[in-house]
Amino acid sequence: MVEASAYTDKVMEHFFNPRNVGEIEDPDGVGRVGNPVCGDVMKMEIKVKDGRIADIKFMTFGCGAAIATSSIVTEMVKGKTLEEAMAVDNRQVASALGGLPPAKLHCSNLAADALHKAIEDYRSRAKPAG
Ligand code: FES
Repeated sequence: MVEASAYTDKVMEHFFNPRNVGEIEDPDGVGRVGNPVCGDVMKMEIKVKDGRIADIKFMTFGCGAAIATSSIVTEMVKGKTLEEAMAVDNRQVASALGGLPPAKLHCSNLAADALHKAIEDYRSRAKPAG
């Protein structure tokens, strides 16, 4: 169990007011990830325009840190190129929140992985058939 005081104000703020929650109609890429240990699941959907993330939304069934990391990831990559978004890793996600308690670092993996999977899904769809 992690005490609430172990979380930064920024984590709490994103937990209470998560940005970009929901689903995108007709998304260009979808990333779904789950953590088998804690059972938390996350889905991230993107809309791509001119090689950039034009829109991104998430749904997270998980802990507060998972919700806060999902939320901040969407803010970090909106408007970025796919290459820039692919380069965002879990450490950057955690540090954008002012850090996470060590026991909660895996939650930031989930957010980065969901983002990367959504981009990979977009890229696999964009490949010409055959
Ligand atoms: Fe599993 Fe946070 S406890 S993602």
